[in-house]
Amino acid sequence: MSASQQPAQEWWRRAVVYEIYPRSFADGEGDLRGLTSRLEYVASLGVDAVWIAPWYPSPLADGGYDISDYRDIHPIFGTLADADAFLDAAHRHGLRVIVDLVANHSSSEHPWFVEALRAGPGSPERERYIFRDGRGLGGELPPNNWISAFGDSGWTRVTEPDGRPGQWYLHTFAPAQPDLNWGSTVVRREFESILRFWLDRGVDGFRVDAAPAMAKRPGLPDAVYSEDLKFDSAGWVDNPHWDVDDIHDILREWRTLADTYDGDRTFVAEAVVNGPERLAKYLRPDELHTAFNFDYVHSDWDAAQLRDVIDGTLAAMRRVGAPATWALSNHDEIRHLTRFGGEDNWAALGQVPHAATDVELGTRRSRAAILLMLALPGGAYLYQGEELGLPEVEDLPESVLQDPVFHRSRGARRGRDGCRVPMPWEGDKPPYGFSPEGTRTWLPQPESWDLLTVAAQDGRPGSMLELYRAALRLRHELDDLAGEDLTWVPSTLPEALPITGGVLDFRRGVGFRCVVNMSDYPVPLAGRVLLSSVELDGSGMLPPDAAAWLDEAP
Ligand code: NOJ
Repeated sequence: MSASQQPAQEWWRRAVVYEIYPRSFADGEGDLRGLTSRLEYVASLGVDAVWIAPWYPSPLADGGYDISDYRDIHPIFGTLADADAFLDAAHRHGLRVIVDLVANHSSSEHPWFVEALRAGPGSPERERYIFRDGRGLGGELPPNNWISAFGDSGWTRVTEPDGRPGQWYLHTFAPAQPDLNWGSTVVRREFESILRFWLDRGVDGFRVDAAPAMAKRPGLPDAVYSEDLKFDSAGWVDNPHWDVDDIHDILREWRTLADTYDGDRTFVAEAVVNGPERLAKYLRPDELHTAFNFDYVHSDWDAAQLRDVIDGTLAAMRRVGAPATWALSNHDEIRHLTRFGGEDNWAALGQVPHAATDVELGTRRSRAAILLMLALPGGAYLYQGEELGLPEVEDLPESVLQDPVFHRSRGARRGRDGCRVPMPWEGDKPPYGFSPEGTRTWLPQPESWDLLTVAAQDGRPGSMLELYRAALRLRHELDDLAGEDLTWVPSTLPEALPITGGVLDFRRGVGFRCVVNMSDYPVPLAGRVLLSSVELDGSGMLPPDAAAWLDEAP
């Protein structure tokens, strides 16, 4: 067995994974050749792997999370040959590749769903999805009260082949994303074959989309929702369509299959569930390897809250022997620079207009936040563009918004397009090298991004990009960061001061210390400064909204 095949290596335990949203990464609509040509850049960051959001054929009703063919590449991105070339090139650059596995639902344009509509009630074709007769005298009411994550009912009524209004099908997300029936062995065997298809091509792992949605409680009983029909998966326990225990059988089957492959293939779960203990169930030794940590993503800039999440995560993961992971942003969340730059930006961005973002404050906190995240034990996920300090684009005209969240909420929620605006590479005006000069990107880039491009920050001391590179380099080099330990240091803030955001202060290994100042007061630093998020003035103090890595070894 070669070194890369030894299970003990378990690269995913401390990997930093860079998320690529292919439509917005490079070149026109983000095609795979563009992505391949930018791999050198990705490798230069010092990350270990990339996760590619869906690249499959899709009507793009939900940004590609509506797949019509699981064994091919969307023509706007390229071909299967391009994907193979990309995989080879990524591996040559020392990067592992994780692809998206969207198994809760297909596209309504998937041949299976088209056949199911044609075949009619009671057919084996309908068995692959979740079709039911409606309630009410004429079946005019949905089969139960389940809601969709994107708003409104989770059910849509179909027209039968004879032209009459007929059965209803379940969609946890948009109507263009019918839920597959994971009680069906046909569905299970098909996904095993899909997993093999990509494992055989050399992918290093899968990101499991909407994992808690895959199993439903038998009989599909009505749900009891506490707040008026709000989709609140992070708060749900005993909900009949979320985090139902049968999911774990599916995950075990996948793990068994992946373990038959060499090369330490891995799964990361997207599972927004009620707290770290429930999340840890997805990571038992015979299930998935890691999971995104949404409690961390959703934390405020507040030391007490973050410390609770960090402690809770580490304790829960330790019990199942899984590593923790951390993330600040992804393609579904308001970019963290914007969140950190406004008191109420989580809630407020749901409505339009909302309070202005303080970009300077958001940038300062984002610089501190990356030093905090990369100093924690376990793995981390970065989202393309955060290393450039990109903010959420909050003023996209409504006419360009594509997210079904915007449309299904009839404009009440702006949706997720603002974090998906194409990357700025070079130049002083859109499209900033993303696509040929003069072309319009699918979401317009701000005129003000000229100083945020890769070219503008590359090699510039003090830029966000160089801070990320320096932190990732040190994270790899420092033996102290290799373990799973973390010891808190009591706060150095004088107790008499009114606590605002607090201080996070911890040690790793024998001599590493990380101090993050979220309070309004400077705090003293002791030890040799390895890296800091702001330029320090020599006074031995760390100013507010800043972080430092220290070497305390004698
Ligand atoms: C999670 C994905 O990240 C998101 O973009 C998508 O809308 C839903 N799952 C449905 O697939």
